[in-house]
Amino acid sequence: MAKIKLDHISMKFGDFYAVRDICISIDKGEYLTILGPSGCGKTTLIKVIAGILIPTEGSVIVDGEDVTNIPIEDRDTGYVFQNIALFPNISVSDNVGYSPRVKDKPKEEIKGTSEEYLMLVKMFDRAGMFSTELSGGEQQKVAIARALASGSKMLMLDEPLSALDARVRVELRYDIRRLVKKLGITVLHVTHDQEEAMSVSDRIILMRSGGIQEIGTPLDMYRDPKSIFAAYFIGETNLMECTVSGKTKTGKTTVRLRGGCEVKAAKSQFTAGDAAVISVRPEHVYAATKGLKAEVLDVVFMGTYWRVRTVAETRDYVDYNVSSSEEIPEKGDKVFLVFNKKSTKVFARPQEGLEEAIKLE
Ligand SMILES: Nc1ncnc2c1ncn2[C@@H]1O[C@H](COP(=O)(O)OP(=O)(O)O)[C@@H](O)[C@H]1O
Ligand SMILES: [Mg+2]
Repeated sequence: MAKIKLDHISMKFGDFYAVRDICISIDKGEYLTILGPSGCGKTTLIKVIAGILIPTEGSVIVDGEDVTNIPIEDRDTGYVFQNIALFPNISVSDNVGYSPRVKDKPKEEIKGTSEEYLMLVKMFDRAGMFSTELSGGEQQKVAIARALASGSKMLMLDEPLSALDARVRVELRYDIRRLVKKLGITVLHVTHDQEEAMSVSDRIILMRSGGIQEIGTPLDMYRDPKSIFAAYFIGETNLMECTVSGKTKTGKTTVRLRGGCEVKAAKSQFTAGDAAVISVRPEHVYAATKGLKAEVLDVVFMGTYWRVRTVAETRDYVDYNVSSSEEIPEKGDKVFLVFNKKSTKVFARPQEGLEEAIKLE
């Protein structure tokens, strides 16, 4: 286990800041995910934390010790890449025993360590095979066993599941979490997949353009995002420009959408006249007998529910869900939509415009 602290970390390539002024504390045994769109600096940041890159500014502190300039091979850190990087011409067992062998451990100990970690990732029965004979998911399990067999207190995972099939990806994410929790290892897991981040993390760091946009538990970030970008990037949401019109007796915010339709939203600090944006997730939008007028554009079967895509009279696209047991609307139907007040979040209208505020790069 290790406690990691990043103190004003920046990484410049030429004049370009790939990562800018990152400060975070990661608890011992915490499973932390670095989430963000492609190119936002996730790999750069995890490489700095692991000791593969030396930051241009700031320091990395592990268990109170400044390790900024210590290379990865001299640290107790396991690292697993997106692209499977096992040695192809040695056995699975020798792959896992690689680190203890390099450290000149006795033969028996190397064998024991290798067996122990292969057992943990449930790959013991493949010990004698070559890595090239394994499936992608099995190879990543071996890569994780190899990383852990180095005796690491920290595990760095850079998109470890991205190259795998959807089903394997989902299974393996739970396997990894179970394993590291059992061992009490501190994990940093980079992903661009918000669903993956939500399902495995103790906390998520949402990155954007080299900086931290938001940090929080998956539930807090999903239920109560602090920015339009987080609301948009984590889960799905409908965003609508509006103007605050006032407050209800119970303190809820009322807003006027384009075209004048008034809706009630969650409590907020905004007052009448403020330019705002509301964010409401599809599961908090319902068809009713009155409300915001909309026309159904498309109905998509999602397995356990239907996703109904509409264009509202405000010219906003509004999506909502209908469960399979309800009546499913058809393309061209006119519907009235209402929003769950408490779950309709109000944000200040971004000065740069809504499009810009949710742009992925
Ligand atoms: N060695 C490098 N030299 C120059 N630019 C780099 C280098 N590594 C990364 N970058 C740039 O830094 C930004 C962040 O990259 P990266 O950390 O790989 O993003 P992510 O992992 O989030 O997709 C990108 O614009 C990328 O092109
Ligand atoms: Mg990357």
